[in-house]
Amino acid sequence: MRQTSSSSARAVAALASVVALLAGCAHAPLAQAGPASAPAGPEAASASAILPAPLSVTPAAGAFTVRDGTVLVVPTGDAGARATADYLKDLLARTRGLDLTVREGRAPGAGAIVLRRSAQGAREGYDLAISPKGVEISAADDAGLFYGAVSLWELLTQTEGRADAVTLQAASIHDAPRFAWRGLMLDSARHYQSPEFVKRFIDTMALHKLNTLHWHLVDDQAWRLEIKRYPKLTEVGAWRVPAGQGPANDIDPATGRPRLYGGFYTEDQVREIVAYAAARHVTIVPEIEMPGHATAPITAYPALGVDGKAPTTGMSDWGVYPNLYNVDDATFAFLEDVLSEVIDLFPGEYVHVGGDEAVKDQWKASPRVQAQMKALGISDEHALQSWFVQRVGKYLDAHGKRLIGWDEILEGGVAPNATIMSWRGIDGAITAAKAGHDAVLAPAPTLYFDNRQSDSGDEPPGRGNLIDLKTVYDFDPAPAALTPDQQGHILGLQANLWTEHVRTEDRAAYMFFPRAAAVAELGWSGADKRDWNGFLDRLVPQMGRYEALGINAADAAWEVRFTDAFDRTAGRTKVSLANQVGRGEIRYTLDGSEPTEASALYAGPLDLALGARVRAATFEDGRQLSRPVEKTFDALSVRRRQDDELKTCSAKLVLSLDDDGPVTGPREPLVIDIIEPCWKWEGADLSDIKAISAAVSSLPFNFQIGKDRDAIRFRPPATPEGELEVRLDSCEGERIAVLPLKPATANAGVTELPSAPITPRAGRHDLCITYTAKSVDPLWAIGWIQLVPATR
Ligand code: ACM
Repeated sequence: MRQTSSSSARAVAALASVVALLAGCAHAPLAQAGPASAPAGPEAASASAILPAPLSVTPAAGAFTVRDGTVLVVPTGDAGARATADYLKDLLARTRGLDLTVREGRAPGAGAIVLRRSAQGAREGYDLAISPKGVEISAADDAGLFYGAVSLWELLTQTEGRADAVTLQAASIHDAPRFAWRGLMLDSARHYQSPEFVKRFIDTMALHKLNTLHWHLVDDQAWRLEIKRYPKLTEVGAWRVPAGQGPANDIDPATGRPRLYGGFYTEDQVREIVAYAAARHVTIVPEIEMPGHATAPITAYPALGVDGKAPTTGMSDWGVYPNLYNVDDATFAFLEDVLSEVIDLFPGEYVHVGGDEAVKDQWKASPRVQAQMKALGISDEHALQSWFVQRVGKYLDAHGKRLIGWDEILEGGVAPNATIMSWRGIDGAITAAKAGHDAVLAPAPTLYFDNRQSDSGDEPPGRGNLIDLKTVYDFDPAPAALTPDQQGHILGLQANLWTEHVRTEDRAAYMFFPRAAAVAELGWSGADKRDWNGFLDRLVPQMGRYEALGINAADAAWEVRFTDAFDRTAGRTKVSLANQVGRGEIRYTLDGSEPTEASALYAGPLDLALGARVRAATFEDGRQLSRPVEKTFDALSVRRRQDDELKTCSAKLVLSLDDDGPVTGPREPLVIDIIEPCWKWEGADLSDIKAISAAVSSLPFNFQIGKDRDAIRFRPPATPEGELEVRLDSCEGERIAVLPLKPATANAGVTELPSAPITPRAGRHDLCITYTAKSVDPLWAIGWIQLVPATR
């Protein structure tokens, strides 16, 4: 369906690795003239190698070669140093093929990598000294030693491929973090990730010096954490039938019913993950949502809900459900039981209790809740939520934990000692810090990584805001509205990945990386270190490290995008190539072959006859940074617009959603404003056009959006299934084409509709594309719109 296609850059990297192996040396950049020789380098121990940027790097004279057999020395009996040395040895073996030897004891005079304790130093800080005599990492705490080792790994992996020796230029590096909370949030409720993925994710976090994993384990759609005292939380609450035709037709032979989607983490698995994280200096903050986002536990134990009945809403919608916990003592007893197991499992300082988006309608409508409010002398439902959170806060306090919640917990009075996670912009953090509360910055949309990082058609589904790498990097974690004292209450920042539209682990990794590298730099490096181009310099080798680690990082920043200007009279098209960051060399081919470093260098628009096939990729420093994209420009494709090449008529709730195709296997992400499904093709050349065709997909309307749903309006359909309508010049303009949707109703994927003839018209016009319907469900999304020429 899609005109651009991707193939893995992995093959290219693998080839480079083989070249390095054959040469028996560190892989020299392909761009470098002459054959690689062993050992390559010296690889400058420059600030450009380390991401996040360190406090200071002072180059010195000479060099040191780390090679197979180089000894990593740790003080005898120092378990923290030993763990870091073992980790570094394993990491270098995995990602570089270097085989170091770990030894406890006294440092030799020269030739080794030595881990040493310093009497004092900043928390998590370290010094890394490289001289011709060897390498020394010193730090006051375990985390500092670990981060020093991570920086050394980065210096040793500036170039790609495997090596048995890497030479480092002498330098001394002094480093320490700016913020204590450098976090990412993983939503495992909306979609489940395996324990193996969670561990790999934690490992990758640690390699960015990110130290806090906020684990969103509970939501309307699932309860993912085993709680021994309440087995139904996971027996019932961890499983759902996903919405849509595909899942409804996917019958599980074992039950004869639609296959359930889900999973949960056993307490043993959690203990293992927590220990794994601790070994990498990552603290896990578990989130147990309350009083809203509670459909899953109320489905498991209906007595927890306001009316004591199982919710009729199901668990497979997105959005904000109406279901709240009731405020009975028995419900607090349940929550305390749950929290006591959570406290046992997660040794960190904080427990996150959610508190967001608790729509108060059920509390308002419940005589029982209202009676309790009266008895407590509580004036409104915000104050009731505040009372609820404070009651839980007292329990956590009594058990040595600190409460953190989303910024709604400020409403109606904030619990003493509560820490605020600011998501509705940064206002919550400002209010909190001014009131003397600690706060973490996690504002939507900038640090919401479910927003897409590119508007390319290849981009996986997500929310519709464009949050590209630079937007993240430009975020300022020091709100100007705060005095320096108040700024001290800003613990740091974190980016959140909500996974409603992130079905797979590979996609989760794609959404996180490399944007998480920008978060790492904002959280670690001093404000004076902010340097967008320098960051991109540091990111180029980081892309190679992702490759070596097997992380499906996004190439969105470097992906080549095509823009074509078709000249009907000449029968030719001018094709421009660009990437998001405007860096690197774009190389292309016209013969269908893979673009390589030796392919033609793009220098300006390509003037092409119809039929031309362009394949292109971005290269920098001898690395291929983007998967090749391909497009053939022919008489049809120059007159076709994919969904991502159309504009939505509004931006009320724009999402990129998977088509409703097979449950497993590839599906097409489609951009749609679910409140106003309407698309515009601006300046479509209708000269010589005899018909319009389109491809569409029905999507389930599985969104809890409250009263907004009633405001969605469609024109009435002429046929039971409705029609796609194309109007001229505006959405109120003349209707020039009507395409009945019926042929697509039985198909769960993207379906091409029969074309509709149009009266030929001269010149360029805006086209408005909408559909008629009796109800919001199903939604219809557009795959593409095609103008069919009378002559080709
Ligand atoms: C949130 O995005 N509801 C915290």
